[in-house]
Amino acid sequence: TNYNIGYFVGSLSANSINRTLSKALIKLAPDNLQFTEIPIKDLPLYNYDFDASYPPEGTALKQSIESADGLLFVSPEYNRSIPGALKNAIDWGSRPWGTNSFARKPSGIVGASVGAIGTAVMQSSMRSVLSFLDAPQLNSPEAYIAFKPGLFEDDGTVTDSGTADFLAHYMREYAAFVERVLDSSAEGHI
Ligand code: FNR
Repeated sequence: TNYNIGYFVGSLSANSINRTLSKALIKLAPDNLQFTEIPIKDLPLYNYDFDASYPPEGTALKQSIESADGLLFVSPEYNRSIPGALKNAIDWGSRPWGTNSFARKPSGIVGASVGAIGTAVMQSSMRSVLSFLDAPQLNSPEAYIAFKPGLFEDDGTVTDSGTADFLAHYMREYAAFVERVLDSSAEGHI
C-alpha cells in the first residue's frame, strides 16, 4: 500500500540542517511512502480571534494535515524546546476547538542538532504536545542526529554508511508503524 506522508521542517533557515535531514530521510525511505512538505513559514501567529473566520493559510494547513496518511516532524531544538514557528503551526492545525487536524494521525519525530544530545529535549516536548492532540507516535526507534560538517551533502546524500543505515532503518520502522495504525483504524480497533 502507498501512503502519503506530510512532513514538517521545524526550521525556517535557508541553511537548515534539518531540511537537509528531511531530504536524506526521503531518499532512504521505502518506496511506498510519498512525501509532501507542509509549509509553515507564511502562517501568521495564531490567536483564537482567527477561529470565527479561519484565514486561507490556516485552512490550507489543516487540509494538508488531514489529507496525509501520516506525519513526520523533522525539527531542531531551540532553547531545549520546540521552535516557535513549528509550535505556531501545530497550534493552527489543532484549532478551531473541536476540529483538531492531528487526531489519529500516525506521527514520527526526528531532529538534528549541532549539540551533543541531538534534539532529545525538543522531541520529549513534542511527544507531550502530540499526545494531547491524540496523534499516535512511533515510540521506537528514536532518532537523535548529532550533526557534523560533511555528514550530509546538500541534496541529502548521507556520507557516513552507519548513519545512512540507521536512517533507512528508522524510515522502514516508520512505514510499518503508519501501516499498523491505519490498518487497526480501518478494522475499527481504534
Ligand atoms: C539553537 N541550537 C540548539 N541546539 C540544541 O541542541 N539545543 C538547543 O536548545 C538549542 N537552542 C538553540 C536556540 C536557538 C534560538 C538557535 C538559533 C539555535 C543550535 C541548533 O542545534 C543549530 O542552530 C541547528 O543548526 C538548528 O537546526 P537548523 O535550523 O539548521 O535545522
